[in-house]
Amino acid sequence: MRLPKTKDARNGRAKSQNSAKRSDFTFRPKYSSLLCFAGILFTLSSFSLARSLVMHLQLVPWLTAATLGVMTQICSSSTLNTISDADKIVSLPGQPKVSFGQYAGYIAVDEKQQRALFYYFAEAEANPASKPLVLWLNGGPGCSSVGVGAFSEHGPFKPSGDVLLKNDYSWNKEANMLYLESPAGVGFSYSVNNSYYNTVDDKMTARDNLAFLCNWFEKFPEYKERDLFITGESYAGHYVPQLAKLIVQFKLFNLKGIAIGNPLLEFNTDFNSRAEFLWSHGLISDTTYESFNTICNFSQIQRQKQSGTLTHGCSHVFSTALREISKFVDGYDVTLDVCLSTVFSQSAVLNKLQETETIDVCVQEETYKYLNRKEVQESLHARLIGISTWTTCSSVLKYEMQNLEIPTMSILGELVKSGIHVLVYSGDQDAAIPLLGTRTIVNKLAKQLGLNTTVPYRVWFEERQVAGWTQVYGDMLSFATIRGASHEAPFSQPERSLVLFSSFLGGRPLPEGLLSESAVENNHINIKWS
Ligand SMILES: *[C@@H]1O[C@H](CO)[C@@H](O)[C@H](O)[C@H]1NC(C)=O
Ligand SMILES: *[C@@H]1O[C@H](CO)[C@@H](O)[C@H](O)[C@H]1NC(C)=O
Ligand SMILES: *[C@@H]1O[C@H](CO)[C@@H](O)[C@H](O)[C@H]1NC(C)=O
Repeated sequence: MRLPKTKDARNGRAKSQNSAKRSDFTFRPKYSSLLCFAGILFTLSSFSLARSLVMHLQLVPWLTAATLGVMTQICSSSTLNTISDADKIVSLPGQPKVSFGQYAGYIAVDEKQQRALFYYFAEAEANPASKPLVLWLNGGPGCSSVGVGAFSEHGPFKPSGDVLLKNDYSWNKEANMLYLESPAGVGFSYSVNNSYYNTVDDKMTARDNLAFLCNWFEKFPEYKERDLFITGESYAGHYVPQLAKLIVQFKLFNLKGIAIGNPLLEFNTDFNSRAEFLWSHGLISDTTYESFNTICNFSQIQRQKQSGTLTHGCSHVFSTALREISKFVDGYDVTLDVCLSTVFSQSAVLNKLQETETIDVCVQEETYKYLNRKEVQESLHARLIGISTWTTCSSVLKYEMQNLEIPTMSILGELVKSGIHVLVYSGDQDAAIPLLGTRTIVNKLAKQLGLNTTVPYRVWFEERQVAGWTQVYGDMLSFATIRGASHEAPFSQPERSLVLFSSFLGGRPLPEGLLSESAVENNHINIKWS
């Protein structure tokens, strides 16, 4: 079953435009966040101005009212210190009884323009005080971390009919999980001035994400010193490193590492790896593969689609490929049956392998229905500002698609050099951002950084089965595949993804197999490779 189209979202916007609650924007400067302010200001203005401000802030114990005014507009603390209580979720409709804390609500990122980002925070199932804080970002650009990450991938619950089922492989077994809908215009996040939606780019997103964190820590001060990890997938291959870079640059928080799954890192390499992946998985013919290599490749196709004109040659290659792949195979997991795997819309934005307008089915559809229930929105403290329905991927945001071409590989390098652990992982059944391109990029980066291999390419295990392959460089930069996993790896391989996540947080190498096990020794089901 298809989701209802959300064309009316844009019309609905005008109606509720002014219903943003003022309380998201209470003006309340916090002196402890001054470096935060300066960090954000840097992204807005010239380097020298920001630098002098940072120095100014460190050396001079007072500030002019004007300067403070400018900064607090950008990074104002949203409300009272104890406000995390107001965001506490008593219980989500249909949820089983749990003992961990859940919070949801808004954090203002621009007081003047009344722009606020929505978050859902699930504290760790046990001993939250001893576990790290993990921020999760979905991609798109324009898709929801709450709808995809939290309710379809690795959050504590998955919607099923009227109830929520407990997810046995929830990432909040290992960490305090913070899901952020970003940028404004995505999910429940909003800008009352809706002109904002017409011009959003990577820089603005990174700045707002940083402002979000600054102000979120004001609400949850007990997490300020906590080990912080930033994670995400797909287009978050841009969001995550770009946010991490700002945090490192301004020495904010206690950032330990980042992990990105099937990430867009380098436009040409990532997009062009699709042809080989599709061909090697038998989805396109030898002839069509040849055409991708001689007539028109995927990066050209993507570029032309973004500018709205496919040349005749490219159009022919593309449509031939689509016909061969057929509508009934999902590009985000070429081996899963369609209903289970189809088109998570974050990838639908990035990857129109299918030209149909399917948004999502099954799990994603359950989430769509669940998050659009009035009582669910109330329990989440969510409001629909300028839209009439919550959607998985934004129907109002016009992201600057040229930004897809910004390479983020070099940022990963800078992060590694400043001591931040970087894990890049790939669901190995994804044709949208295939492991082939990702592995090439990580390998190239390791060479550029002069990092030697510290864990040679090998299998890793979950229970007694191979869960994927991994290689580690200089104990800082890791690559791993997740076997049998889709673009949204934790959706289709939750156990394996949780093992990967846990090892990453703990700084442990991925589990090695027990090669002496009799099943392996007998080897009766294994191919003899030599
Ligand atoms: C609304 O946002 C646009 C684009 O960000 C900006 O140019 C404009 O000045 C804003 N309008 C108001 C009333 O603040
Ligand atoms: C893709 O096509 C463009 C334009 O012909 C070319 O410059 C580029 O090298 C090609 N990339 C690959 C990986 O074939
Ligand atoms: C990497 O390996 C080479 C060759 O074994 C060695 O000369 C070099 O010192 C190593 N570099 C690092 C950073 O360990």
